[in-house]
Amino acid sequence: MSKEKAPNNPFFTGINIPDRYFCDREMETKDIINQLKNGNNLVIKAPRRVGKSSLIMHVFQQKEVKDTYNTLYVDIYGTKNMDDLVKEFMNAFLEAGFARSVRGKKQVEGFLQRLYLQANLSPGGEVSAFRLGLTPSNGVNFTLSEMFRFLEQTKKPNLVVFDEFQKVKEYPDDITAELRSHIQRMTNTRFIFSGSSRHMLHNMFEHPKEPFYRSASSMNLDIISEEVYTTFARRLFQQYRKDISDEAVALVYALFSGRTYDMQEVMKEVFQQLEPGKTAVPDNVKDAVTRLIAMWENDFRERMDKIEKIKNRNMLYAVALEGIATSVTSTAFIRKYKMDNASSVQNAIAYLSADSVNAIEKIGKASYQLQNRLFEFWIAKGFRRLDQKFDMARERYNQERQMLAQQPTFEFL
Ligand SMILES: Nc1ncnc2c1ncn2[C@@H]1O[C@H](COP(=O)(O)OP(=O)(O)OP(=O)(O)O)[C@@H](O)[C@H]1O
Ligand SMILES: [Mg+2]
Repeated sequence: MSKEKAPNNPFFTGINIPDRYFCDREMETKDIINQLKNGNNLVIKAPRRVGKSSLIMHVFQQKEVKDTYNTLYVDIYGTKNMDDLVKEFMNAFLEAGFARSVRGKKQVEGFLQRLYLQANLSPGGEVSAFRLGLTPSNGVNFTLSEMFRFLEQTKKPNLVVFDEFQKVKEYPDDITAELRSHIQRMTNTRFIFSGSSRHMLHNMFEHPKEPFYRSASSMNLDIISEEVYTTFARRLFQQYRKDISDEAVALVYALFSGRTYDMQEVMKEVFQQLEPGKTAVPDNVKDAVTRLIAMWENDFRERMDKIEKIKNRNMLYAVALEGIATSVTSTAFIRKYKMDNASSVQNAIAYLSADSVNAIEKIGKASYQLQNRLFEFWIAKGFRRLDQKFDMARERYNQERQMLAQQPTFEFL
């Protein structure tokens, strides 16, 4: 047993989670490590908030990975072009301790000196809090080639993760061919590409015309099973002389469709409000959800205020109230939610799913749901329909799973 002090709350919500508070993913962790050992690169695909990034951090923490590789985590979610990518790559170097201790070769030291200079730091200085800003801040004077050349010189092999890798497809210039040629040449570096846009990533790695075609083994990460999450959650409560009923965990699981991010947030809140010696029941979950919605109130209000057009708002309300809105261009739907006609529905969908608004997502043919479940519940509460959401949770969960299972694996670009 480690002597570390137990945290006040065992439900973690960041991406760095101590092993003891990390739920399962044992098979996936082994699988990833095995693939790396066999010399394969890997692509990890999953819907949003299922736990890709924390799984990668969990893999980084494993002794055999820590001992074997220099690990670099490059999150490119916020990048818009090649310059941004280079900056995030540099940030990963600045955050990775090993880069400071690579000594010897001239080019390597030169690279590091320039890196620290650009970051306004002296070599060996405290860098953990430092990050280079992305667009539109000042330019970078590093190139991708230099980064890869540096990696080629390290003593230990490297493990580089590009998280949200599908973003490179949105850059104004297609850099995938260039990236691919660098990556292909590396002899001592393994790569993990991970991302949330399943189809796009799929196409990048499975389409014969794409530079990354078949360059990595693929893993689809699904939600954690209900049974496994239930055992995990109860164990954590019990470690603190508390408990939670199976029904209460089941409600959390159904309400948030098994997405780890939301479940952890709610569990954290339920746990915090519960006195030692007590067992949490579904009502505690409902209270926790209601409190979380209240905490997000300002944020949600602001998001709503930005949506100026009445039809766009109506459409958002409609999708939120439906939970999963199907046949959105049908006459029945249009009438029910006062949407004029099919084209006003289409326009609203385009607006609400655009990157800048990011409020809804497609989950099947003519079917949509809100991206953020708490936002959905907040809207429902405004219509006095929150209790209905609680009552219908299981049904809605089943419907969603069914729809996702029907999604085709292939899609035309
Ligand atoms: N196995 C796990 N055990 C406990 N908590 C987890 C686990 N996996 C994920 N989480 C929790 O869920 C949150 C979301 O996970 P993570 O950020 O890894 O998901 P993601 O798929 O990368 O999401 P995004 O699409 O937003 O990038 C984490 O902050 C963490 O709190
Ligand atoms: Mg992530």
